[in-house]
Amino acid sequence: MKRRPLLAGNWKMHTTVMDACELAAEIGKCSAGLEDRDVIIAPPYTVLSEVAHVLQGSNVLVASQNICWEDKGAFTGEISPTMLKSAGGTAALIGHSERRQIFHEDHALINQRVVGALRFGLIPIFCIGETLEERESDKTFEIIEEQIREGLAGVSIDDMKKMVVAYEPVWAIGTGKTASKEQAQEVHAFIRALLEKMFEKDIADSTRILYGGSVKPDNVDELMAQPDIDGALVGGAALNAESFCRIINFT
Ligand code: PGA
Repeated sequence: MKRRPLLAGNWKMHTTVMDACELAAEIGKCSAGLEDRDVIIAPPYTVLSEVAHVLQGSNVLVASQNICWEDKGAFTGEISPTMLKSAGGTAALIGHSERRQIFHEDHALINQRVVGALRFGLIPIFCIGETLEERESDKTFEIIEEQIREGLAGVSIDDMKKMVVAYEPVWAIGTGKTASKEQAQEVHAFIRALLEKMFEKDIADSTRILYGGSVKPDNVDELMAQPDIDGALVGGAALNAESFCRIINFT
């Protein structure tokens, strides 16, 4: 099955309003005319609406870096799917390792976010990945399976059609130490097989699984050439227009 490549940039806690608008404009320009792939950027909440405005009419979608499961209410520090949609967003990162590690978001909370995002028609970009310690003690597959089973609990086959999964080994994030294409492919194939067990073959075949962790212009092509890698979730290299544009234009 042919899956449409998806290149996503996670700006994390970077960019002032002015930086964000400039960067978004550059990315909009270099994405113009690319009809065989999707591009998404996830700016901070403070600039999301401006970025969506700059990208209006382009083929770049805007995502939030997290999302609450409720529509509104007393949830200080959170934003709701309705708020995101009104600001021009259509997707949300959920379960990023920085949320899991620094902010102690657990499986149950992440699952609530996934289910909530789906309920409001957003595209969840559900992130998973093992730490270095877990990899070195041969627990990678066990951890990935647990994250997926718990994070996707209660998600229907129909809802899975919207889901994007991002495999991001924690040891590769922001370290410059990318997983080798073989290491990444091995885990991606495992995830796809697990999705078949949990849902059905069509879902396993059609779900896009992105790789993230030190994706750069000089390694994107070989990663994207792997049969089960359908895209990239890019942090550091997404903050520079030239490098992100090169990544979007992978060959
Ligand atoms: P990185 O971040 O590309 O800087 O490693 C990836 C991510 O955290 O999504």
